[in-house]
Amino acid sequence: MPRVSSDRPSGHLRCIETSCAATYSLDDTRSECANCGNLLDVIYEHAADPEALKRLWRERKMSLDPRDLSGVWRFREIIPFLREQDQVVTLREGNTPIIESKHAAAYAGLDSIGFKHQGFNPTGSFKDNGMTAGVTKALNLGRKIVACVSTGNTSASLAAYASYGGLHAVIFIPAGQIAAGKLAQSLEYGAITIQVEANFDGTWKVVSQFVEQAGVYLMNSVNPYRIEGQKTIVVETMERLNWEPPDWIVLPGGNLGNSSAFGKGLREMLAMGLIKRMPRLAIIQAEGSAPLYHLLNKARAEGRAPLSYPAPIVADPRTLATAIKIGAPVSWRKALRELEATNGVCESVSEQEIADAKAVIGQAGIGCEPASAASLAGARKLVAAGIIKPSERVIGVLTGNMLKDPMYSLAYHEGTLSTHDADGDRRIVPRFPNRPVVVPPDPAAIMKALESVRQRG
Ligand code: F0G
Repeated sequence: MPRVSSDRPSGHLRCIETSCAATYSLDDTRSECANCGNLLDVIYEHAADPEALKRLWRERKMSLDPRDLSGVWRFREIIPFLREQDQVVTLREGNTPIIESKHAAAYAGLDSIGFKHQGFNPTGSFKDNGMTAGVTKALNLGRKIVACVSTGNTSASLAAYASYGGLHAVIFIPAGQIAAGKLAQSLEYGAITIQVEANFDGTWKVVSQFVEQAGVYLMNSVNPYRIEGQKTIVVETMERLNWEPPDWIVLPGGNLGNSSAFGKGLREMLAMGLIKRMPRLAIIQAEGSAPLYHLLNKARAEGRAPLSYPAPIVADPRTLATAIKIGAPVSWRKALRELEATNGVCESVSEQEIADAKAVIGQAGIGCEPASAASLAGARKLVAAGIIKPSERVIGVLTGNMLKDPMYSLAYHEGTLSTHDADGDRRIVPRFPNRPVVVPPDPAAIMKALESVRQRG
């Protein structure tokens, strides 16, 4: 396996609560502060010439070193938490494209939109950017068993990276509540797969209590090293944009680890001089699973600081975008910090809006899983509200591949997709259906079917 040859580790872990600010060494595997129970950040003393770094990262694109072929480790100077001799577990993650779409832009009411498509990753989601970092850290700390609680993508990614790195993965998933493609991945990649009869929050509550005592290293986004890997998604985005930040980065929010990682990456790039101004983050939640959105509304209405409230909770989160079906996001405090740092906003979108936006992304020839489509649905809503201007430059993050959840797509196009909420089942009426045409093996019938295609122009 490849080794890291860059600088020695230069940082430490620090509690996010500024009045605590307890620090721990980078050999520590805790995910919470021992004093106050808050999450931890990896903090570095970055001191590099930004232009030299940009050149170095660009030159590495010519290299065949496996670390340079990774869209995470190519930027290793911005995540310098490894020791010189450390091995890297990489499946060539990152290197995902920004895909422009006129079709999606028109739908959102924007002049243009670019999709940073994380579904191009080895296991089909943005989790791979974080998992290469988390599993690499686990390996180098001598941990043998890694675990996570997941709505499906973290588990698929952990299963792959752990197996590739020679570690054992145990994954806990809410029984019957994750997309089929994701469950299949975990089984195929050889993870011990435990389906808990609860939703994500209920599973997390039980599992997170004992996992560490059982000697198992937790790889959820509370793991600060995983966040470091995910941070490189925005670094790569800025590099692709020639270090010209967009006005907005719009992304779906569930457990809020990714929003936290994006904000941290942007703050660090600004401090290092890699970018000259901050893009604004827009976090989009599904209407039935929108604890951060509700918290911010309440804080605004009551004129109080969002951080003065207890952890936000939606007791019975609902959404067909199962990836973001989370009622008690663990990283809510980090996400609030990043919204403040980026002058960001949080919006919520309905099931109908997610479903139609997903179909539009599909029609554009791009495709994504349901949670990812919250980006486009959210951008559209923010444009309609006058918060995003049509001429502003928007990057929407597509977090997962369309093939993760094909049943959702089939149901949408066949008109059978329905939500299950407290008032019972509600059918989603597809605005952009594309039903399969069934014909007998008869030339006349096939000609008739072709005629209807010709009429479409
Ligand atoms: N989009 C997809 C496709 C996801 O899988 C997730 C989270 C999110 C968005 C939200 O990201 O949690 O960092 O705010 N999936 C996690 C999982 C929870 O277990 O796979 P977040």
